[in-house]
Amino acid sequence: MTLAIDVQQLTKVYNGRIRALDGIDLEVKAGHIFAFLGPNGSGKTTLMRILTTQFRPTSGQASSFGLDVVRDSAEVRKIIGYVPQETSVWADISGFENLLIYSKIYGVPSGRRKKAVRQALQRMGLEEVATNMVKTYSGGMVRRLEIACALLVEPRILFLDEPTIGLDPSARKAVWQNLTSFKKEHGTTVFFNTHYMDEADLYSDEIAIINRGKIVKSGTASELKQSLRSEILRFYSEDGNNVDERTLNDIRDLSMVSNATLHGPRLDVAVEDGERALPLIIGVLSRAGFTFSRISSAKPSLDDVFLRYAGQINFKEGGDDL
Ligand SMILES: Nc1ncnc2c1ncn2[C@@H]1O[C@H](COP(=O)(O)OP(=O)(O)OP(=O)(O)O)[C@@H](O)[C@H]1O
Ligand SMILES: [Mg+2]
Repeated sequence: MTLAIDVQQLTKVYNGRIRALDGIDLEVKAGHIFAFLGPNGSGKTTLMRILTTQFRPTSGQASSFGLDVVRDSAEVRKIIGYVPQETSVWADISGFENLLIYSKIYGVPSGRRKKAVRQALQRMGLEEVATNMVKTYSGGMVRRLEIACALLVEPRILFLDEPTIGLDPSARKAVWQNLTSFKKEHGTTVFFNTHYMDEADLYSDEIAIINRGKIVKSGTASELKQSLRSEILRFYSEDGNNVDERTLNDIRDLSMVSNATLHGPRLDVAVEDGERALPLIIGVLSRAGFTFSRISSAKPSLDDVFLRYAGQINFKEGGDDL
């Protein structure tokens, strides 16, 4: 399978002392949406700047579709689109004019520019505001315009550094609807940095978490969540008839159970795999004659995964009813 991105033992040391990347290995498959997560200052933008040929690595290798980002940088620039973390459009001219300027910068032939601009506006849902000054746009519209600029060259890989930062939930959704439909149509690989776990969960095929310049965990969203191997099943007693100590110990003895605790009328059971453990626990409870009115389950979220690997552990209370 073709790799859109192949990174091997990459390091970046700024000013001879700040080790921003410390031996990164990373593969992103062509056509995938890849989410790169990490705390502030962990090295996300640094990696993106190396992959988009703006910075040279200190050591190691990185390539895009087989093109080396240092040796073949001019070729790499032809196949990528990039939306930086900071604002990259001019506010005192229209969206249309911004796109026209970018089409010149990107070397779109003059005869094809207007068509490319119109297509980019349409892809990002900006036709109606195309001739308005950018300073009258909302934050979401500005971000969609910046993405439209990056799409002018129909890139094979689109790099987005925090594409929805500071946007409200509906503006974030609009950005992603436009992006996913473009991706579906063109098969573009998307590489994005984000602090929004829900976006990584919803839209990515693969995720990697970076902390202090090292990749600490990677996989699909569900693999990462399952890797925590913890889920809490909660049983609520119907009639104040609480579980006794012996039954509690019987539950703790089940091989799939890592712990069981009583909280008044509520029994909490920590398990690796709730779906498989649930029938066994219900079996123990009903043999002992205990009834319950409700069961809920709290599964780890991507936030929990992030906190485990790149922050402090903070498994959330509450959960969904089963
Ligand atoms: N041009 C630079 N010169 C010197 N140090 C830099 C430079 N750019 C980044 N750094 C340092 O490298 C480290 C990684 O920074 P980077 O911007 O890659 O992090 P990030 O994960 O993108 O953070 P954020 O989530 O805040 O955007 C930080 O310690 C930062 O201060
Ligand atoms: Mg950054």
